[in-house]
Amino acid sequence: MEEGPVTVIGGAGRIGRRIVSRLRERGVPVRVTTRDVRRSRSAVPGDVPLAHADVREPASLAPPLRGCAAVVFSVEPGTAGSGPDRPETTMFQGVRHVLDAVGPAAHVVLVSQIYVTRADHPQNRYGRMLDWRLAGEELIRARGGPYTIVRPSWLTDSRGAGEAVRLEQGDTGDGRICRDDVADACVRALSTPAAIGTTFEMYNVAGPSATDWDTLFARLRPDGAVAGRRPRINGTEVPDVGAHTPR
Ligand SMILES: NC(=O)c1ccc[n+]([C@@H]2O[C@H](COP(=O)([O-])OP(=O)(O)OC[C@H]3O[C@@H](n4cnc5c(N)ncnc54)[C@H](OP(=O)(O)O)[C@@H]3O)[C@@H](O)[C@H]2O)c1
Repeated sequence: MEEGPVTVIGGAGRIGRRIVSRLRERGVPVRVTTRDVRRSRSAVPGDVPLAHADVREPASLAPPLRGCAAVVFSVEPGTAGSGPDRPETTMFQGVRHVLDAVGPAAHVVLVSQIYVTRADHPQNRYGRMLDWRLAGEELIRARGGPYTIVRPSWLTDSRGAGEAVRLEQGDTGDGRICRDDVADACVRALSTPAAIGTTFEMYNVAGPSATDWDTLFARLRPDGAVAGRRPRINGTEVPDVGAHTPR
């Protein structure tokens, strides 16, 4: 990773807070953004800079992303098909705004989700959540800079599904994953070269808890080698999302 702080967008959220705490434990300088500094102050350690930013407002992103070595995007979208909080504005346009504001060498870590390549999944009825998430992923893959795309399965706060972590590719599985493990993956990806240029799903399974992230990441294939569907917007394959204006 480049020298410089890591900015966590959504760093006052449930995964975000865990990411912030792990970065601090590792001595990594960290910044957090939130849409409401007053509300979020108690969720973020006092010595961590907390700035107002909204991924839907490009101007708000410039100060907290200036000079950062990496950015983690952990944003919960709205689920309506219309309105200011819809997945299109947060998970697609929001990702684009972040990419416009970070330096070309900054490592971008996106918290996405499983099912994004399964357009017929019921979750896609909520504001075409899956389509827009996949389109946002695609912007990151097309950018040319370092990235890691983490696709958690159903999030839990405990490891009821098992202590071990399985990373998969191809988006065919189903299961649950603890937020602590998602946070670990995001933080470890920043210091593990094998995680760069990869997209993977995450599941808890039976077995010993995950400690050897180098080995987990080393088993992944770089994205160019993984087959997957292209983003589809209104039933049409999107050939170049970077230049695409959906509607
Ligand atoms: N629930 C599941 O089973 C599941 C499964 C797979 C993936 N995921 C995804 O995992 C991610 C994180 O989950 P979580 O449990 O940590 O969610 P969370 O606790 O709700 O945190 C989400 C964060 O998103 C931020 N946010 C929302 N809209 C924003 C905007 N317009 N601009 C900037 N920040 C915005 C919020 O920050 P402020 O309010 O401070 O601005 C909040 O801290 C989400 O993307 C979620 O969809 C969830």
